[in-house]
Amino acid sequence: METTRPYDLLLRGAEVATPSGLAQTTVAVRDGRIVALGVPEGADAVETLDLSGLHVLPGVIDTQVHFREPGLEHKEDLESGTRGAVLGGVTAIFEMPNTTPNTDTPEALADKLARAQGRAWCDHAFFIGATDANAEQLGTWEGLPGCAGVKVFMGASTGSLLVEDDTVLGRVLAGGRRRVAVHAEDEARLRERKAIAAERATPAAHPDWRDVETAVRATQRLLALACETRRRVHVLHITTAEEMELLAEAKDLATVEVTPQHLTLTAPDCYERLGSLAQMNPPIREARHREALWRAVAEGVVDVIGSDHAPHTREEKARPYPASPSGMPGVQTLVPVMLDHVNAGRLSLQRFIDLTNAGPARIYNIAGKGRIARGYDADFTVVDLKARRTIEDAWMANKSGWTPYHGLTVTGWPMATIVRGRVVMREGELSGPPAGAPVRFQGI
Ligand code: DOR
Repeated sequence: METTRPYDLLLRGAEVATPSGLAQTTVAVRDGRIVALGVPEGADAVETLDLSGLHVLPGVIDTQVHFREPGLEHKEDLESGTRGAVLGGVTAIFEMPNTTPNTDTPEALADKLARAQGRAWCDHAFFIGATDANAEQLGTWEGLPGCAGVKVFMGASTGSLLVEDDTVLGRVLAGGRRRVAVHAEDEARLRERKAIAAERATPAAHPDWRDVETAVRATQRLLALACETRRRVHVLHITTAEEMELLAEAKDLATVEVTPQHLTLTAPDCYERLGSLAQMNPPIREARHREALWRAVAEGVVDVIGSDHAPHTREEKARPYPASPSGMPGVQTLVPVMLDHVNAGRLSLQRFIDLTNAGPARIYNIAGKGRIARGYDADFTVVDLKARRTIEDAWMANKSGWTPYHGLTVTGWPMATIVRGRVVMREGELSGPPAGAPVRFQGI
């Protein structure tokens, strides 16, 4: 009889982040899903983990990564990218479309899903990139299995994807139902100011070239068009105090992402210490913006933390600015860096869970993930809130082999990663084979 069949997995001894708050309880898993919170002492299980002293959080979902496959596998690929994810406690990722070729057709999406099969260590979904040519089809394509939704680059970044004018952007927004993820930098202003980067020829000029006004203008244009078309939008990696003011007034349509690096690093220090390794789009800015981002985290304006994992090799980064590419790795360090902020009192553990689980689930209507509840996928990020470790380049799974946090000692560390009931990482050791599956979405 079903009720007497042993559980596949029991998580015992930990503080569990349940929908009712932290509780000392046992989590029971069968067939990849959570089947009970709290079981009798002698309950039978194929595998039992004693997690005394640890916290079991719902599996962290990173909704913005660039894993470079196909086409740029010398920087990263779906195997190494997802390996970094699970080593860092991340159980699901949404991957961006600026690969080579761009993910801007159903065929390119199917190709990524096929490549991930048997090679991805965690669950995954892929964005379709918006272009002038596909604007009318996106409304149909966004519903394809394994599709996280539509991604728009309003300003050019790494790769060729770009929707720079309001006419095309309006067509993209008018054409579908799901929330559209947007990189908001104003392309016209970026072009006007490009000379600043070339003249100053130092990464410290990056936040001057791609200045506050560049970000604000794009976000203003986006919010106006979202309002006109009544389309929900998700504004990625917000970097300015000014945009947070606009977005706090637009919560009926817009959700907001910040990245760990914009919450952790500041200009000019980061450019002095790290040079072009700190170069990303939109840029790391001065302290007043970082403070505004933390305030927006505290006030609930921010919905989600995404890593914007975007590796480039050291050789590429060594090119003289502005030929050096923008982006830095981050999927593997999201959990430890943010737990260190939890320990420093900058956000609560509850808010961390909200930003990495409830937030992603709410923004994208993810099915069966984002909380530890009966019937949900058995995805868990098991953390030691007291562990003190130093982040090192040598720990990085990313093919580019570096992290902007090299040498940073943090408090709080991912001790195990469990994906649909399979323990894929425990104390830094992987357990394969990779068996990540496409993320499912409600109503699709
Ligand atoms: O810095 C960035 N790098 N920002 C982006 O929007 C793209 C990313 C990349 O793919 O390298």
